[in-house]
Amino acid sequence: MDDHAQAPRPPLRALAERCHFAIGAAVATQPFLNGEPDYCALLAREFNVLVAENMMKWDALSPAPEQYDWSASDALVAFAARHAQRLRGHTLVWHNQLPAWLRERSLSRAEALRLLETHIKTVVGRYRGQVWAWDVVNEAIDDSGDYRRTSFWFRHLGPDYLALAFQWAHEADPDALLYYNDYSAEGISPKSDAIYRLLRDLKAQGVPIHGVGWQMHLIEGWRLEDQHRRNAERLRALGLELSITEMDVRLKLPPDAAQLDGQAESYRQALSFALDHCRALLTWGFSDRYSWIPSFQPGTGAALPFDETYAPKPAYHALWQTLAARVGQLHA
Ligand code: XIL
Repeated sequence: MDDHAQAPRPPLRALAERCHFAIGAAVATQPFLNGEPDYCALLAREFNVLVAENMMKWDALSPAPEQYDWSASDALVAFAARHAQRLRGHTLVWHNQLPAWLRERSLSRAEALRLLETHIKTVVGRYRGQVWAWDVVNEAIDDSGDYRRTSFWFRHLGPDYLALAFQWAHEADPDALLYYNDYSAEGISPKSDAIYRLLRDLKAQGVPIHGVGWQMHLIEGWRLEDQHRRNAERLRALGLELSITEMDVRLKLPPDAAQLDGQAESYRQALSFALDHCRALLTWGFSDRYSWIPSFQPGTGAALPFDETYAPKPAYHALWQTLAARVGQLHA
């Protein structure tokens, strides 16, 4: 990759910083740990906030009971510090990517509580002062607006685990911003209504919760609607901040020019919304070379702002122009 020829200057993060905004990406384990030069150079150059795509999930951190392997997550924390980047921590309480030793164990309520408390305090405590915002609870509400009753944590603990998880995270790092994160809850729907009520009730009980993450794994054709603004406004009225945490916009493969332009428009609208309503916008990866989409949604992909050769796509230029226009307005 020719550092200068491919993406315009200044990089996204320089523009974002002038708007007091965080622009970021999820970091994939393999290219990061292998130190792939182009991958790491872009990561450092373009973004002022990073999140681990997998490295801070329970199965990645704790391969055996009471044992932690911090090598990957420590490397990410060090990289972010070296490049003056903030970190989002993802994720403390989720029903997926739990280690087999935990999933397969039969647990009493007391044991489940103890394991969860120990995990949260161990991980948050290790990175105290180094993680800007934690996704404390991920995907606890199902699409109908009920609790995700099949979740490991709901089955063992019922709904009580939510307030406890936030409390434990807060005790371990009182300065970290604590988020509830979920997908398909950006508009007004039974699911987003349920999330709204849940967060309202937690706030009313004095639970330390500071923000809501909208994952935004989108399909091309997504456009900003009034319902997104209304949902953001009701959440912000609770005193919560908002971030777009995992954005991608998948295309039918192979994409044509019209699809790439449509995708750029989705990114443009999301970022312009985020500059008004959110602390941060992170994409789930940044190059189509490493994206979860083709293996999880077969036949689709090309979901990110850089292509497989790290060349910026129309989506990248849309992000850049949206930030540059905002900087122009600020300094006009
Ligand atoms: C995905 C990762 O991208 C994949 O590499 C992994 O195999 C499965 O998880 N919502 C989330 C993320 O909160 O943690 C998921 O990440 C994508 C959906």
